Amino acid sequence: MNIAANRRVLSGMRPTGQLHLGHYHGVLKNWVRLQHEYECFFFIADWHALTTSYEDTSIIGQSIFDIVVDWLSVGINPGEATLFIQSRVPEHAELHLLLSMMTPISWLERVPSYKDQQEKLKERDLSTYGFLGYPLLQAADILIYKAGNVPVGEDQVAHIEMSREVARRFNFLYGREPGFEEKAESAARKMGKKNARLYFEIRRTYTEGGDLEALDKGRALLEAQQNISLGDRERLLGYLEGGGKVILPEPHALLTEESKMPGLDGEKMSKSYNNTISLREAPESVTQKLRTMPTDPARVRRTDPGEPSKCPVWKFHEVYSTNEVREWARAGCTSASIGCLDCKQPVIDAVLKEQQPIRERSEEFLADPDTVYGIIDEGCEAARDVARDTLDDVREAMRLVYR
Ligand code: TRP
Ligand code: SF4
Repeated sequence: MNIAANRRVLSGMRPTGQLHLGHYHGVLKNWVRLQHEYECFFFIADWHALTTSYEDTSIIGQSIFDIVVDWLSVGINPGEATLFIQSRVPEHAELHLLLSMMTPISWLERVPSYKDQQEKLKERDLSTYGFLGYPLLQAADILIYKAGNVPVGEDQVAHIEMSREVARRFNFLYGREPGFEEKAESAARKMGKKNARLYFEIRRTYTEGGDLEALDKGRALLEAQQNISLGDRERLLGYLEGGGKVILPEPHALLTEESKMPGLDGEKMSKSYNNTISLREAPESVTQKLRTMPTDPARVRRTDPGEPSKCPVWKFHEVYSTNEVREWARAGCTSASIGCLDCKQPVIDAVLKEQQPIRERSEEFLADPDTVYGIIDEGCEAARDVARDTLDDVREAMRLVYR
């Protein structure tokens, strides 16, 4: 992995409308945590939305605004993370094009989501070039930032895997710059005599004996170097591993734990199931939705005992309640000593309490769109600077710089 950039995190979301509590518990809380530990890039994948919804593009613009408001309202801090829109960094498209030249079609056809989504979204015509290529666009999204870590759910892991293969292939094809060995050796000398000797020794141990411990030692040695340039670092890493220069480092999936957040019907919370509570939904509406959500069907009358494991409300207790409240609910349910509305009340209170600061912050942002768009503008500029640098490296490696 590229050592300098492996503390960089990138993730994206499609603009499909306001975010809900499922996003909050599944993704956003995790992002908020990551922004303190890593250099984070979070973006709105508007071109990705087109791969399945090219016929109706009307909701994209409003969705982008809504999602950025949601991000900011939950505490994603533009001072810590770079927030941007994919299409405002057209370098993604150029890298996608270049990568498309060397990516076998079979790699794209065998990504599981290709056939799955075509099956699932039967009403749409997804036999398009763009839809087939969408995992490669995702690879470009990641590789253009040389991001080491990509927080995603299980359903996206195959895409990260393919991004790794694409990066490996790119490095294999174009990492052998002219005079690579000489450049690597002179880079090693820049680390000082002692470190250079150590580096060559480690390299010999690894390349001759395949000793993985030596490889780790070598990586650590490079990581500890303060005085070498990024280019030299990549050369030294590539040389250590016995390959060429690592131009596009291979990213790793940072698997996000499956959210326990249920929808109102007990299934996964998802807009397509129509069972969501949006992040900044009005309190009256939240209350109304929770009061009317289904419970254990066996509890027809107040006097019928219920079984929490058969009740969607119980799953909310698992997310929102303390042990004490949970025990109260379980005992009250199985003995029919409380009614379902009693049981729901602490959940309603907890959801409202969780949402209150989010809703308040969102009201401020909604009242001041200029600030929101200003944050987006700045993020796009910052992202673009990084993306341009990578593309310079890529063009140079591919010998597409003509003077
Ligand atoms: N494909 C992702 C999704 O549909 C969104 C996405 C696009 C993404 N590019 C990405 C996620 C890069 C992580 C990294 O949810
Ligand atoms: Fe569900 Fe609570 Fe009613 Fe039991 S008492 S059925 S757990 S809502």
